[in-house]
Amino acid sequence: MIAVIPAAGIGQRMGAALPKQYLECAGATLLDHTISALFAESRIQKIYIALQPDDHWFASSRYVGSEKVERVDGGDTRSASVLNALSVALATFSNDVLVAVHDAARPCLPPEVLRKLLDVAYEFPAQGALLAIPVRDTVKYVADTAALNVGNSSSVSSYGQLPIIARTLDRENIWLAQTPQVFRLGDLQRALVLAEQHGVGITDEASAMEARGIQPILVPGSRMVMKVTDPEDLELIEFYLSKLKR
Ligand code: CTP
Ligand code: MG
Repeated sequence: MIAVIPAAGIGQRMGAALPKQYLECAGATLLDHTISALFAESRIQKIYIALQPDDHWFASSRYVGSEKVERVDGGDTRSASVLNALSVALATFSNDVLVAVHDAARPCLPPEVLRKLLDVAYEFPAQGALLAIPVRDTVKYVADTAALNVGNSSSVSSYGQLPIIARTLDRENIWLAQTPQVFRLGDLQRALVLAEQHGVGITDEASAMEARGIQPILVPGSRMVMKVTDPEDLELIEFYLSKLKR
């Protein structure tokens, strides 16, 4: 099997001087931690890293020059970055090979969690599998802003317009998707191309497969597999990364 790491984002919400995947944390950049987690898994033969074409930071990675790691160009969206990496991979690997797509922004991936996910993906290659965690809080579906503007002036507070609840979802059935997400290379490429053609906004690989009628399997992940998004995530990820190393 192979892996793809989309790492071509700009990290707008982090607001740092450089893309968040290059921030140093617990002794390495977030991206190098992410690569390490996949590199250590012997079933993964090759790791494609999708980067902004003009990225000059990756040159300092400890994985530059490794035969197992290949840099490819990313795109304007996460799914364009993934799709480009898959196209490059398809020049070398067959449609049936499994590919694990894993966000650069999830640097903390415990080896036993990855192992379990890959075991399940090998058992159910046609369905595919992804890490996910059950939601703990009660989940509120909010009315859209357009609806808010019609006649609900009560939600306009001294802090601006705040959302109001449309309904409460049944939390028993709600899981939060993480990565890695593992599918067959050919299946995933086709699904992402079709999603793009149909103009469906896709924020993970599973959604593209679901749109093709596939029901991917959820493998319990971990809170440690959190996606680093805002500055306030940095202290927490540093804690998790140092815990993982122990
Ligand atoms: N990503 C990518 N190509 C893009 C956009 C995102 O490869 N055009 C990658 C990011 O580098 C990240 C992952 O997709 O590893 C998840 O995206 P996100 O957490 O949203 O990262 P950014 O897009 O960089 O952050 P922001 O949305 O705050 O700008
Ligand atoms: Mg983004």
